[in-house]
Amino acid sequence: MRQYQLHSADSGLAPELKEVEAPQPGPGEVLVNVKAVSLNYRDLLMCQGQSASSAKAGGTVPASDGAGEVIAVGEGVTRVAVGDRVMGCFFSHWVDGRFDLRYHEAALGGSANGMLSEMVVLPEEGVAKVPDGLSDEEAACFPCAGLTAWYALLERGDLQAGDRVLLLGTGGVSIFGLQIAKAKGAEVWITSSSDAKLERARALGADHTINYRATPDWEKTIWETTEKRGMDHVVEVGGAGTLPKSMAAVAAGGHIALIGVLTGFDPPEATLFPLIARNVRLNGIYVGHRTALERLLAFVEESSMQPVIDRIFPFEDAPSAYDYLNSAKHFGKVVIAVS
Ligand SMILES: NC(=O)c1ccc[n+]([C@@H]2O[C@H](COP(=O)([O-])OP(=O)(O)OC[C@H]3O[C@@H](n4cnc5c(N)ncnc54)[C@H](OP(=O)(O)O)[C@@H]3O)[C@@H](O)[C@H]2O)c1
Repeated sequence: MRQYQLHSADSGLAPELKEVEAPQPGPGEVLVNVKAVSLNYRDLLMCQGQSASSAKAGGTVPASDGAGEVIAVGEGVTRVAVGDRVMGCFFSHWVDGRFDLRYHEAALGGSANGMLSEMVVLPEEGVAKVPDGLSDEEAACFPCAGLTAWYALLERGDLQAGDRVLLLGTGGVSIFGLQIAKAKGAEVWITSSSDAKLERARALGADHTINYRATPDWEKTIWETTEKRGMDHVVEVGGAGTLPKSMAAVAAGGHIALIGVLTGFDPPEATLFPLIARNVRLNGIYVGHRTALERLLAFVEESSMQPVIDRIFPFEDAPSAYDYLNSAKHFGKVVIAVS
């Protein structure tokens, strides 16, 4: 069978297609015939050696997010059966409850081999069943981007109908955030560098849009337009470069879900005082657990929400999918069809 592995390249690491022996499931494991994989910004960070789970980079099978069909099960497996459609969970062993540092030891496409392979072996506790209404390509979008947005807004943020939600940019996490927030009755604000993307965001239900290139002081616009009430939730995917603005745009008693590093890893140049003065909750978010993913999938089934897929690349052309994600021309998710 064929799989991609990360190997040294001029730019750091890059996915290389290899022919390898098909794996067999051991006790408590399942063998999945992977049908589709989606890429995340974290897959670019892995290539640059900058992900939190880069430890085992050289030779690692990349990509945390994939879906397919169970084609064999090892001894003692009870949660799933041959023929079930499943997706891998980002953290194979984080089933529920609080995060524990030992979960970092099995993060797909990072410290553990990922999904960009025709077949993968996963622990049975590290898969979630795919709802009938989702295609393989759609299912492959949920384990990281979808769950991160859900976990941030619902599980840690306790989003309520009528809350004001701010999303930064139109990548995978933010577009899931937009869809989830609107489906839950929130009022959504979203920024982008592109007016064309903002138009697509409005078509998905965004109530207010701001071009962050044309309006670099967008936090002031938000503060004034909301008559100094601000945002109840900020899905903070920008990191150091946008956090000071997010702190200036957040409502009293609001919530900032600190998720991303799109502006880099430097420390923010800002006073943290607004967090105190406004009684703000600042939550560090790292994806989420399987039980939250299952709650998200139940909600998706009930609300008929479909992920926004920008482009699907063939398996043989996976490196072009990486280049496309890196170009930031996408809106929503970039997917690779595996088989
Ligand atoms: N902690 C976690 O659990 C977790 C999980 C998932 C992702 N993340 C992190 O969250 C971030 C987003 O991930 P993703 O996979 O959704 O990324 P993505 O799909 O690659 O998103 C890229 C988009 O982000 C927007 N962007 C870039 N710089 C921006 C800025 N300064 N201000 C506002 N928007 C900006 C751009 O949108 P426009 O083209 O519209 O301008 C760009 O197209 C990454 O840093 C990733 O590492 C963290």
